[in-house]
Amino acid sequence: MIETWLTRTLGIDLPILGAPMGGRAGGELAGAVSRAGGLGMLGAARYTTPEWIAAESAVVRDTGLPFGVGLMTWSLGESAQHAALLDAAIEAKPALISLSFGDPAPYVEKIHAAGVPVLSQINTIEDLRIVEAAGVDAVAAQGTEAGGHTGRIGTLPLLQEVLEATNLPVLAAGGIGTGRGLAAVIAAGAEGAIVGTALLASPETTGPDYARDRLIAAGSADTVYTSVFDQARNQPWPTRWGGRALTNAFTRKYHNSDAGHAMLSGAYDPADPDLGVVYAGEAAGLVTESLPAAQVVERMAAQAEVLLRRFR
Ligand SMILES: Cc1cc2nc3c(=O)[nH]c(=O)nc-3n(C[C@H](O)[C@H](O)[C@H](O)COP(=O)(O)O)c2cc1C
Repeated sequence: MIETWLTRTLGIDLPILGAPMGGRAGGELAGAVSRAGGLGMLGAARYTTPEWIAAESAVVRDTGLPFGVGLMTWSLGESAQHAALLDAAIEAKPALISLSFGDPAPYVEKIHAAGVPVLSQINTIEDLRIVEAAGVDAVAAQGTEAGGHTGRIGTLPLLQEVLEATNLPVLAAGGIGTGRGLAAVIAAGAEGAIVGTALLASPETTGPDYARDRLIAAGSADTVYTSVFDQARNQPWPTRWGGRALTNAFTRKYHNSDAGHAMLSGAYDPADPDLGVVYAGEAAGLVTESLPAAQVVERMAAQAEVLLRRFR
């Protein structure tokens, strides 16, 4: 067993968080990760609803196991409707709330008042100072290899920089797709890993079938860091965060083009794998089959344990 701050604090067996992935991680995936001994997390996208959070947390709560909810910090301040997502997350009584992409200061006290610890994924050392000042309980260094929205610094350089710069517990996110990656970040001093892409071919994920199939077919070079899908889908992400997605006909045509919103939204088609988005990270090359999420998590932890034992 790999015991870390993460496993002790959450009372879980494995130092693995199932990534909060908007549009892909609901109660079924979160429940499978928690059943395997990690902590499954619901991904509450900007466009989701309080009702979705309530319904999906009811699914995972049926396992009787702890789970987490992840929200997009920058979008919570957009309107009362967006702020209501945080209230729904707190009402779901999660073991952890993750507030990523933005300054969590306005929200941390409210979450702590409910007795829930707060984690923030960060992309730069400046982000570390912001979330430390906000009073979060832990940070995750999220590298540019990660699927979905992320920053521009690689996981290992960022992780080393953050570990040197803080006394907070630090997790790693981005590119961790097997026990080798998990062992590497734990040996470096991380308390655990947030794993997203490695779970995305699993049957418990939501989203179109083609998303699982395309991921299995993709190699590690088949991703692009882009904001064309945000523009096409009218998602007003601050420009510092792009999203890592699988390349397809849409990205080949429009990434780095000067096409405006009207053209991008006209061309975007979520029903068509060549014109829709599949957010996924560089760990895509490590995903070669559709395995139940529990198997992915258990296998990763077991391999890391063997590797870490080599040095005892
Ligand atoms: C499809 C997808 C959706 C994501 N949505 C969110 C999200 O809603 N909130 C969030 O904090 N992170 C989100 N992320 C980022 C993950 O939390 C995590 O940092 C990432 O998956 C880790 O890197 P990996 O994909 O290489 O495992 C998403 C990632 C993916 C792949």
